[in-house]
Amino acid sequence: MKQPASASDLLGASLSQRGATLARIDRFLARQAPPTPCVVIDLETVRQHCLALRALLPQAHIYYAVKANPAPPVLATLAKMDIGFDVASSGEIGRCLGIGAVAQRCCFGNTIKRESDIAEAHAAGIPLFAFDSAAELEKLARAAPGARVFCRLAVPATGAEWPLSRKFGCSAAMAVELLTHAGSLGLRATGVSFHVGSQQTDPLRWDAAIGTACTVFNACRRAGVMLDILDVGGGLPAQYRTQVPPLAEYAGAIVTSMKRHFGSSAPQLMIEPGRYMTADAGLLRAQVLLIARHGGHDGRRWIYLDAGRYNGLAETQGEAIHYALRTGYDGGPAEAAVLAGPTCDSTDVIYDRANYAMPLHLAIGDTVDFLSAGAYTASYASVEFNGFAPLATHCVETDATTA
Ligand SMILES: Cc1ncc(COP(=O)(O)O)c(C=O)c1O
Repeated sequence: MKQPASASDLLGASLSQRGATLARIDRFLARQAPPTPCVVIDLETVRQHCLALRALLPQAHIYYAVKANPAPPVLATLAKMDIGFDVASSGEIGRCLGIGAVAQRCCFGNTIKRESDIAEAHAAGIPLFAFDSAAELEKLARAAPGARVFCRLAVPATGAEWPLSRKFGCSAAMAVELLTHAGSLGLRATGVSFHVGSQQTDPLRWDAAIGTACTVFNACRRAGVMLDILDVGGGLPAQYRTQVPPLAEYAGAIVTSMKRHFGSSAPQLMIEPGRYMTADAGLLRAQVLLIARHGGHDGRRWIYLDAGRYNGLAETQGEAIHYALRTGYDGGPAEAAVLAGPTCDSTDVIYDRANYAMPLHLAIGDTVDFLSAGAYTASYASVEFNGFAPLATHCVETDATTA
């Protein structure tokens, strides 16, 4: 029988995988020289990340969070691996069905849905819908009668570099109230979800959330409602500037918490990775448009790129996500610099306080690569702010991904 990969195998593989990912992307860039800015995604890395997660959490049903990177070749690569899709809108549903994904393997995970989108998703055969409020549950009852519904809990996102707290989720008490009411609205209460915040750097952060979810399962059971799905959301990190724990630690922590809280009566586990699946598979290539010193109050060197906050680097808002950068002069003399985007919006500053030392030899026309930029870059880019085109995505195929 085939043995699952060990954690050390996977860790070693992930280090060598990074070099292999960049080698394939670099060959593509050298051959095609696409105009900048652009994102290049190595589909083999997407496939490898999916395999690693499946090996470490074989009991989980994986639903890829499409919002992270909805490029059709990415979706097709994952659909071939029999992965489900967490969708946020009818646009994302259309993309998934467009590449041949099966509606029954999609889950409408957004808790803020247009009622006509719910009806469309229901008619298309999507079986699972999220909610976190009474009003959304009523919408589901009207537009998706008989559907399976799960309630999103609000949980702390401490340790996440891109927290998703406050806007989503309800209290455990409200979740019990709504889930036990769902049946009388003609819906099937099926489970609970949460999200511990994106780019979660602490593998132990799932524990309290799983514990809270367990209290909801128990209270619903006492009220005669048997839930059977626990969706532990996204949050698995990418490898940006600071080292994060290996995937095995996250998977191990989730398995341990499931055992601790649910014992032998664990529900079906569901996980919705977005960032983990595609970030490390991609690179964003930008070009230097201008290097300037303005004197006066700020003598620093400002490096202006053709990519910025509005065309790919949205997650540098608040300097939250610190991408690792690559230039042709790495290892040479460097000096702190401010990095900024090309638009005439003063919020279009990429890094000011984050202490990026940039090579002194860097010149106008040189490229700057943002590594692990395959998630939440092209999908976050504006349509045409300042007349700059939306960020292009190119995908690199290998024999394994085309098979
Ligand atoms: C409902 C839901 N699931 C999954 C994800 C993916 O999260 P991550 O990219 O951190 O894995 C998100 C991100 O916003 C989400 O809202």
